[in-house]
Amino acid sequence: MINFTFYSPTYFVFGKGTEKEAGHYVRRFGGSKILIHYGGGSVVRSGLLDRVKASLDKENIKYIELGGVQPNPRSGLVYKGIDLCRQEGVDFILAVGGGSVIDSAKAIAAGVPYDGDFWDFFEGKPVEKALKIGTILTIAAAGSEGSGDTVVTREEGMLKRGAHGEALRPSFSILNPELTQTLPAYQTAAGATDIMAHVFERYFTNTKEVEITDRLCEAILLTMIKEVPRVIADPNNYEARANIMWAGMVAHNNLVGVGRVQDWASHALEHELSALYDVAHGAGLAVIVPAWMTYVMKHDINRFAQLAVRVWGVDMNFANPEETALEGINRFKQFLKSIGMPISFKELNAREEDIPLMVDKLGLGENRTLGNFVKLTARDAEQIYRLAL
Ligand code: NZQ
Ligand code: ZN
Repeated sequence: MINFTFYSPTYFVFGKGTEKEAGHYVRRFGGSKILIHYGGGSVVRSGLLDRVKASLDKENIKYIELGGVQPNPRSGLVYKGIDLCRQEGVDFILAVGGGSVIDSAKAIAAGVPYDGDFWDFFEGKPVEKALKIGTILTIAAAGSEGSGDTVVTREEGMLKRGAHGEALRPSFSILNPELTQTLPAYQTAAGATDIMAHVFERYFTNTKEVEITDRLCEAILLTMIKEVPRVIADPNNYEARANIMWAGMVAHNNLVGVGRVQDWASHALEHELSALYDVAHGAGLAVIVPAWMTYVMKHDINRFAQLAVRVWGVDMNFANPEETALEGINRFKQFLKSIGMPISFKELNAREEDIPLMVDKLGLGENRTLGNFVKLTARDAEQIYRLAL
C-alpha cells in the first residue's frame, strides 16, 4: 500500500423525506443568500423543487434560481451562474439534481471568488477556494455528491475536462433514494454502469498488497450486480434503490481507492464520446470499459482472474487463467446488455470515422500517456476505440 491522505468532510443525510431538511442544513453550513441550481426540468415536474423552496422559506433563507443545466454540463451556463452569484451576493449554492447539476454548481462555486477565467481550473489549476455547496441528489451515478471533482464541457471545441480540489467537496449532501424512482430505466442503468466503472478505475492497479480496498471494491460490485436488476424490474424498489445510491457515493469519494495508484484511462476515453455525441456518460462507459479490459488484460491476468472469480462467480481455471479472466469480461458484457446498456459504437450511434478526431483530442504524445495500469499511447487509444466498434 502506498501513502495517502483521505479527506471526506461532507455531511450526508440519507433516507426518505430528507429533502425537507434542506433549509436546516443550508443554515447550519452558513448559507444566507443561495443559488438553487437545477437541470432540464425533472425536479420541477416531480415537485421536488417546490419542496426544497418550502424548506428554505421555513428557515427564512433568501434564494435565487438558475435552471437549465444540460447533461454533460456546458461552460456557457457556468459563466452565467458566476455573473449571477456576484451580482446577487450569493454565498452558498444548492445543487438539486444529478452529477451534471452538481458539477455545474461546483464550477460556478470555484469561479465566483476567482479573478481569472474559471476554465483555468479545467486546464490543471487546483481549486483552492470556492463558495460552499450543498446537494440534493436525484440520480445514483457520478458520485459528485461526495467527490472533490467536477466535469464540464467547453462549447468551443466541445472539450470535456475535469477540475479538482478539496474545496469542491460539498458541505452536505441529501440522499433520498425515493427521488430516484422517477428515473427512466436507461438513466438508472447508465448511472449504475458509471458507479461500477468508478470501482474498476481503482481496482485495476499495479500497487501490491491492497487487500482491504480490493475487498471493498468487490463488495460494491457484488451489490450492484444484485441490486441493479431489481430496480430495472421494479423501479419503485426502495431498498434496492437505497443500496445503489449509497454504493454510488462510496464508489467515488475515494474510500475504496486510497493507498493505490488508480487508472482512469477509461474515463478519459469515454469523455471524448460524450463530448462528441452528447451520450450519457455511463452509456459511453458501457462501450469503453469492456474494450479497455480486453485490451489491457494480459498486463495482469491474475488480477482479472481474481475479479472474475470473486465478483462474477467464474470457476478458476488454474491451467489457463486467461480463460478465467476473459470469462469475467464476458459476464460483465452480458450484465451490461441485460440492463439495457449499449456495448458497441454502433449501438451508441458513434462513428468509426470520428476515431482519429477523438484520439487527437486526447492530446497524447511523447510526454503524455493515458492511465496508469497500462500507460496508453495514441496508438493504444485508437486500438481500444476500434475494439469497441
Ligand atoms: O436535467 P433533468 O431534467 O433533471 O434530467 C436529468 C438528465 O436528463 C435526468 N434525471 C436526473 N434525475 C432524475 C432525472 N430524471 C427523472 N427523475 C430523476 N430523479 O437524468 C439525466 C442525466 O442527469 P445527469 O446529471 O447528467 O446524470 P449523472 O449523474 O450521470 O451525471 C453525469 C455527469 O457527471 C460527470 C459525467 O461526465 C457527466 O457529465 N461525472 C462527474 C464526476 C464527478 N464530478 O465526480 C465523476 C464521473 O466519473 C463523471 O465523469
Ligand atoms: Zn464516471
